[in-house]
Amino acid sequence: MKDADALYHELLDRARRMGQEHIFAYWDQLTRLQKEALLRQVQQMDFELLHRLHQTIVANKKPVNVTLEPVQPIPLPRTEEQKQQTKQMAAVGEQALRDGKVGAILVAGGQGTRLGFDGPKGIFPIGPVTQKSLFQLHAEKLLAARRRYQTRVPWYIMTSESNHEQTVTFFEQHGYFGLPQDDVFFFVQGMMPALDEQGKLIMDRPDHVFMSPDGHGGIFAALKKSGAVEDMQNRGIEYLFYFQVDNVLVKICDPVFLGYHIHQQADMSAKVVPKRDPFEKVGVVGRINGKLGVIEYSDMSDEEKQARDAQGNLLYNAGSIAIHVLSRRFIEKICNHDIELPWHIAHKKVPYLDEQGQTVQPDAPNGYKFERFIFDALNYAERAVVLEVDRSEEFSPVKNAEGEDSPSTARRDMTRLFASWLRTAGFSLPENVDEMRLEISPLFALDRDEFLHKVEGHLRIPKAFYLE
Ligand code: UTP
Repeated sequence: MKDADALYHELLDRARRMGQEHIFAYWDQLTRLQKEALLRQVQQMDFELLHRLHQTIVANKKPVNVTLEPVQPIPLPRTEEQKQQTKQMAAVGEQALRDGKVGAILVAGGQGTRLGFDGPKGIFPIGPVTQKSLFQLHAEKLLAARRRYQTRVPWYIMTSESNHEQTVTFFEQHGYFGLPQDDVFFFVQGMMPALDEQGKLIMDRPDHVFMSPDGHGGIFAALKKSGAVEDMQNRGIEYLFYFQVDNVLVKICDPVFLGYHIHQQADMSAKVVPKRDPFEKVGVVGRINGKLGVIEYSDMSDEEKQARDAQGNLLYNAGSIAIHVLSRRFIEKICNHDIELPWHIAHKKVPYLDEQGQTVQPDAPNGYKFERFIFDALNYAERAVVLEVDRSEEFSPVKNAEGEDSPSTARRDMTRLFASWLRTAGFSLPENVDEMRLEISPLFALDRDEFLHKVEGHLRIPKAFYLE
């Protein structure tokens, strides 16, 4: 690096002014390459932003006078009229798919700390019978949709510095799961440093400041920086189906959802499910000071969580499942007008250097991490569709190693869903299928209707059963 010495002095000076000069404490012991790496890292740091964030933590001011209101989602189709409407919306969505106006966005840059799996979460083996990975499962759904609608659906996959290489290698090793390589666009999200209780940056190596991915809301900056938005423009993509890597039941490019979004000329739309109970720890789509957004679980009082409407249903019942459609022009608006989504602060365990310069993994939270959330963009949507869906058909995330929302509940929920398809087709199954392992490849049938169209049977299904 040219003028490394000059750059060092400039950055040291900047760090000193912001009370962060300790990041250069090991400077004299570093090799040339280590020095260059540290300078590159520090050069990109927004010290002023970090300072402001620390002030927010110190002030610890809860926003006052926040008014919350529930929203009424488009309900599950029950009446004949609603079923007709669903069909019409599906036709709108299917047309957009056939016309090549739809792309898919997957965010897979997270660290999967709770799952504790060594590697990107997307390579986690999840198929109840085949153990196919989350990535493969999603890729097959996309491939099946492409075949059904005779279309291309470019797939934009967000990774982070910590898992990018492994993710791309995994796709390469598996031949992109049958997808054309030029329809898969990887892009890397940004990173954010963490601060300790005193507002100091945390070093995790003598030549490195600890950083973590800047949240799924980092997607807007990353889409723009990577050229993905331009790619969407060049391909004539108008609608982006957004999903997260951990949901095994996600209906990728669901035409009904796309159809509603397009028909209502929405900017950003959200799928929701009724909450399991008042204290289920999910965010709720609602209005915050009159604007659409996701009300975080921790921002609701027990009273609000338990409030009921005149029919006795939970008032705040639109549980957010992190599935969205975004119009490309809305993504452009956020990117081009430099709309800044807020930073969310989380008190977390952050590896740090002890006095001997050794990395320590703490047992208790010792630092603050900062993330942006995609759903805060709802705030800026002039039009939005909130669509209720059936949890058992569309939402089962792999978050934890055990218990709720874990690999075992995800496999169980897939098995239960496929059992219901098989039963409707006339197959005989025990009432409780939780001891079974059932799996139907998206390449065999993407949904219940396609399945019913293809099979009919009366056989007894064995305990482990896979259809491709
Ligand atoms: P989660 O909020 O569940 O986080 O991400 P996580 O990183 O997967 O798991 P924990 O919290 O460390 O246990 C929901 C989705 O958002 C993506 C994840 O990859 C997942 O698909 N995500 C999250 C990102 O792409 N980037 C981030 O910075 C955070």
